[in-house]
Amino acid sequence: MKIQYITIVVFCLIMLLSNCTDNKGKTGNSRFTMREDSEMTLLMRDMYEYYDSLKVNIEEGEIPKEIRDFSEVHSAVSTEPEKGKSELYQAMATVYKESADRLKNKKNDMPKYFNLMVDNCMNCHQQMCPGPMVVIEKLYLKDVNLLE
Ligand code: HEC
Repeated sequence: MKIQYITIVVFCLIMLLSNCTDNKGKTGNSRFTMREDSEMTLLMRDMYEYYDSLKVNIEEGEIPKEIRDFSEVHSAVSTEPEKGKSELYQAMATVYKESADRLKNKKNDMPKYFNLMVDNCMNCHQQMCPGPMVVIEKLYLKDVNLLE
């Protein structure tokens, strides 16, 4: 009985991890696969790199005048195109986009709103593509009090 239970848990874990695990956010691994990177994959890498550098700017107190919002998240075609068109994806893309917009007017409160924006990357990934979460998590700014 117990063994059966463990088998089911292990099976679920494997299913969870294999969902999107070839999209770990590492660049350059596509050389070894036949598949072309999707438009959405390229956009996501661009987003990751942009926010990673914005994070450094915030840490150093050098906030750029223009802040990007990546409205293309709504239209970018994913590896499985139906995924990007789904209601769930579109709803979470809207929430992300709003939080990215909010960053533009919150220059005094950047760390807090930056981390709230990262929450929305994580939320969508939790639902649709858990593989890259270990990478995205690294974007969070440390020592930010969200209750202030
Ligand atoms: C609305 C849902 C959604 C939001 C919001 C979202 N992502 Fe993604 N992300 C995806 C999906 C779906 C994929 C897989 C793309 C594909 O298979 O074509 C992906 C892929 C990725 C990848 C893997 C790219 C690769 O090299 O394979 C990274 C890294 C990533 N996202 C980072 C981010 C970051 C950083 C944010 C927030 C700034 C973010 N994502 C916001 C849905 C989302």
